[in-house]
Amino acid sequence: MTSVIPPRDRLIVGLDVPTIEDARNIVQTLGPTVSFYKIGMQQVFAGGLELARELIDQNKQVFLDMKLLDIPNTVSKAIENIAQLGVTFTTVHAYDHVMMAAVEARGSSGLQILGVTVLTNMDDSDLARMGIGMTAGELVLTRAKTALSLKMDGVIASAHEAAAIHAVVGSKLKIVTPGIRLAGGDVQDQKRVMTPALAISAGSDYLVVARPVIQADDPQRAAAMIIEEIEAAAFN
Ligand code: C5P
Repeated sequence: MTSVIPPRDRLIVGLDVPTIEDARNIVQTLGPTVSFYKIGMQQVFAGGLELARELIDQNKQVFLDMKLLDIPNTVSKAIENIAQLGVTFTTVHAYDHVMMAAVEARGSSGLQILGVTVLTNMDDSDLARMGIGMTAGELVLTRAKTALSLKMDGVIASAHEAAAIHAVVGSKLKIVTPGIRLAGGDVQDQKRVMTPALAISAGSDYLVVARPVIQADDPQRAAAMIIEEIEAAAFN
């Protein structure tokens, strides 16, 4: 899909910090270098929706990572309210009824819904224990195909899953990928990391990066390096 998205807009910086003041400071430090931010549950319970509105007022895009999972009626009402915030992306778990309700409720609002296929802390044995007779890889692909058939806008996937998903859904679903590390960087608690260039080459459309940017000695330089790498890989 990808080369039509400007490289700068393909980096989503995760504002994974305890307070909204901390998040505001990061946004100020990154200035015009970064155009897209992720606000997750930690921030939502600490004033994150107000921050989302502020960012939108500053012409930034916002990924509100809510990972909704509930009965269709409740999901639908939640999505209608999220759509009014003006955020670009939000997430739901990629279960048929949840995705169906979310897509219907977002209507033509411009809000894009991403499906969380399988949480990355779960492996094949976790799924077996839950009575699911598929490997995590198979379930990711099955849910990505369902997401496409239900007219979802995209999925969250590791860079390792991106190529397989991309091969099946082509450019019809956006692939949004966390677990990115610059070559030689500290992997922290991420187990299966990839560099920005490899993730883009594997078919990821957007990269979600938190610690390698927000904990860098020079966050603006770290973000700029990632965007340069995205640009080089996208036009290769
Ligand atoms: O600091 P780091 O770059 O590892 O953060 C990645 C961001 O993406 C965090 O906000 C994390 O919660 C999120 N994420 C992830 N792995 C997933 C899904 C989301 O790291 N499978």
